[in-house]
Amino acid sequence: MSTNTTDNLRKVTTRTFAEMKKNGEKIAMLTAYDYTTARIVDQAGMDAVLVGDSAANVVCGHSTTLPITLDQMIFLASCVNRGLERALLVVDMPFGSYQGDEKVALASAIRIMKESGAAAVKIEGGEEIAGTIGRIVSAGIPVMGHLGLTPQSINQLGTYGVQGKGDAAAEKLMMDALALQQAGCFAIVLEKIPAALATKVSHALDVPTIGIGAGNGCDGQVLVVQDMLGMNKGFSPKFLRKYADLNNVMTSALQAYVSDVKSGDFPSVSEAY
Ligand code: KIV
Repeated sequence: MSTNTTDNLRKVTTRTFAEMKKNGEKIAMLTAYDYTTARIVDQAGMDAVLVGDSAANVVCGHSTTLPITLDQMIFLASCVNRGLERALLVVDMPFGSYQGDEKVALASAIRIMKESGAAAVKIEGGEEIAGTIGRIVSAGIPVMGHLGLTPQSINQLGTYGVQGKGDAAAEKLMMDALALQQAGCFAIVLEKIPAALATKVSHALDVPTIGIGAGNGCDGQVLVVQDMLGMNKGFSPKFLRKYADLNNVMTSALQAYVSDVKSGDFPSVSEAY
């Protein structure tokens, strides 16, 4: 029998997440949607890489995350997986792949794990999907929860605005977080909620919270790679720190290429065989 199981494990595992929370070490997570980007993200020292269903927006150009399919998520995740050596790979379960029926949800999660090489799946929702999460976890699949702004429910929420405002909403979010932890989630994303609430939830949980637009009290942070590299000029929500202006960098480079091709400057003699 082969004994190389541990050789195949990433250096960062869900157990590492638990240790990082215990040690007060922040978790750095970022999305990636292709092999080349995944390699760069991994080599930069990211703890976890998310193939999020925001791919529906930033890869496919849809206005919501709803249209992306399980097959499309698996394709993107398998490309990303080949670029990773260290980071934990988490893959979003897309809209329609888990909401209806626990058996369907388990089958979808199994497909993601088998066909993409992911180490965990992420699911949006609270107490109402705790049973589904328990079922997936009991099959040996780590699950990351996702509360607050849950973009798959945009038609119900009616806004991409801040969630969890007011006592009742804050109390519900806290109860949801505890239910997800109880169901077996190894971590929970908190998206676009007040910083004070995110801090309170993070203190109440044993598992780490990963914030996006949820302030500095979370155990880790996640951003969408195209957004934090400044590729989407028009997207500048308050929570987003842009670490580069790739839109300008890419536009200048591409314009220079067009100009060089049209003038005949490219390719030069030294760039030809
Ligand atoms: O799909 C995604 O990019 C996400 C992050 C915003 C957490 O779910």
